[in-house]
Amino acid sequence: YYIGVDLGTSSVKLLLMDKQGTVVKTVSKEYPISFPKPGWSEQNPYDWYEQSVAGIRELTVGIKKEEVAGISFGGQMHGLVILDENDKVIRPAILWNDGRTTKECEYLNNTIGKGKLTEYTANIAFAGFTAPKILWVRENEPENFQKIRKIMLPKDYLAYRFSGVHATDVSDASGMLLFDVKNRCWSEEMLEICGISKDCMARVFESYECIGHLTEEAAEKLGLTTDTAVIAGAGDNAAAAVGTGTVGDGSCNISLGTSGTIFISSMTFGVDANNALHAFAHADGHYHLMGCMLSAASCNKWWLDDIIGTGDYAKEQEGITDEMLGSNHVFYLPYLMGERSPHNNPLARATFTGMTMDTTRTDMTQAVLEGVAFAIRDSFEVAKSLGMKITETKICGGGAKSPLWRKMIANILNIRVCVLDKEEGPSLGAAMLAAVGTGAYETVEAAAGQIVHVVDTIEPDAEIAARYEEKYRQFQQIYPALKPVFD
Ligand code: XUL
Repeated sequence: YYIGVDLGTSSVKLLLMDKQGTVVKTVSKEYPISFPKPGWSEQNPYDWYEQSVAGIRELTVGIKKEEVAGISFGGQMHGLVILDENDKVIRPAILWNDGRTTKECEYLNNTIGKGKLTEYTANIAFAGFTAPKILWVRENEPENFQKIRKIMLPKDYLAYRFSGVHATDVSDASGMLLFDVKNRCWSEEMLEICGISKDCMARVFESYECIGHLTEEAAEKLGLTTDTAVIAGAGDNAAAAVGTGTVGDGSCNISLGTSGTIFISSMTFGVDANNALHAFAHADGHYHLMGCMLSAASCNKWWLDDIIGTGDYAKEQEGITDEMLGSNHVFYLPYLMGERSPHNNPLARATFTGMTMDTTRTDMTQAVLEGVAFAIRDSFEVAKSLGMKITETKICGGGAKSPLWRKMIANILNIRVCVLDKEEGPSLGAAMLAAVGTGAYETVEAAAGQIVHVVDTIEPDAEIAARYEEKYRQFQQIYPALKPVFD
C-alpha cells in the first residue's frame, strides 16, 4: 500500500492506494485557520501534525503495518514554517493566501527588480510567496528572525517529523522565490537578499525521490514500521496534476479548492513575459505554468455557509437552469483575500455588481460560481496569449464535484472538461509519487497512464458559450474600474 497525504488549508485529506492503483480508503481531518488581521492567514504546524497522525492511524486500521511501502505528500504551497535550534516552531505558519507582504513585494519587484528576480528564480514576488514573508519576519519580528535555524514548507514539516530529514521537492520549492526553477537548485542571490544562510534550507529532491524512512518514534506514533519509505512529494497543485494525469506536454488541470488554479504541464522550461503565470518545476521531472486565484471554492463556501447560512450547496444550485447560463445580470468579483493571478494585488476585494430589485438569491449564488470561472478565464487568457492551444482540461478539488460548476467552466473557457474515474487529485497524486518512489512504477507518467482515466467529457454548448463570451467582456471591465477603490 501507499499513503498520500494532502495537507490542505481547511483539512488534511489522506488516501490509501494499493499496488494496482485502486483507492482503498480515504480519511479527512480538519484544523482551524486564523485570520489575525484583514488579509492575514495563519495555521499552527502542530495541528497539521496531530491531525495527520490521527488520520493515518484511522486510514490504516485493519491492514498489516509492514504492507505500507511508502508515504508521500501534496501540500498547500508557499507557507512559511520556521524552526529554532531545538526544532521548535517559532511562530504560526504564514500561509499562501496571506497578504501582509505588500511592502516586501514592492521592495523585491521594484528595488531588486522583476528582471533580476526572474533571472534568479523564473518568477516575480507575489504576496503569499515565501521570500517576502521571510523579509516581513526580519523587519517586524527581529527576535523571531534571529532564532531561525530551519525554513520549510508546510508538507515538508510533516516529512521532517516523520523521517527526521530536512527535505523539500522541486515543485514546492519553486513557490518560495528562493529557488532557481530552471536549474532546480537554491538561488544563492535570493538567499543573500533575504539574509538567510544556506544551512537553513532543506535538501532538494525530485518529487518522486525517497528522502528516507520513518523514524522509530514516527513509526510508533503512526502504527507503521521503520521500513516505510518517505517520498518527497509535491506542492498540492503539482500533486493534483499527477493525480489527474496532467503530466507531459501541454496538458491542463483546473482545481477548484480553497484556491482556484489552472495548471499547464510542459516538457520544457518557459517563463511568461509578464510573469502573470507562475513558472514552476513539475513533479514529473519537468515544468509547468500556473495561474492561482486565492479564493475559489472558498467564495462559494463563504457565500452559502457564512452569509446565506446553508450547508446544502446542491439545493442552492438546483434552480440554475441552462437558459440562465450566460444571462445573469449580476457579476461577482471573487477577491475575498485579494488576488494573485493575474492582477497581483493583495488589496483587491470581492464585490457583487449589477443587482436590481428583482435580483434573487439564486442569481447571486450563480454570480459567485461564475465569478470564479471568469477569474480562471483571466489566467487562461494569459496562457492563450503565450501561444498555448488548450482544448481540454481535467478538473479536481471540492468545487469540481458540482456538475453545474463544471458546465460553467466548460462554457466560460469554451473548452472540453474531462471527468476522471478518480477525483481525489492531490492525495491520489501523493500516493502515486510514493508508488513511483518505491519502484512500483518506473516514471510518474507511467503511473498516471495506468491509474487515472477519463470517464466522461463535458463539451461546451455553442449558444451558452457565446452568451458567456459577452458576459466575460463585461466582467473584464469591473476590476480595472474598481481598482482605485481597492487601492
Ligand atoms: C498555489 C497556491 C495555492 C495553494 C493552495 O500557488 O498558492 O493553490 O497551494 O493550497
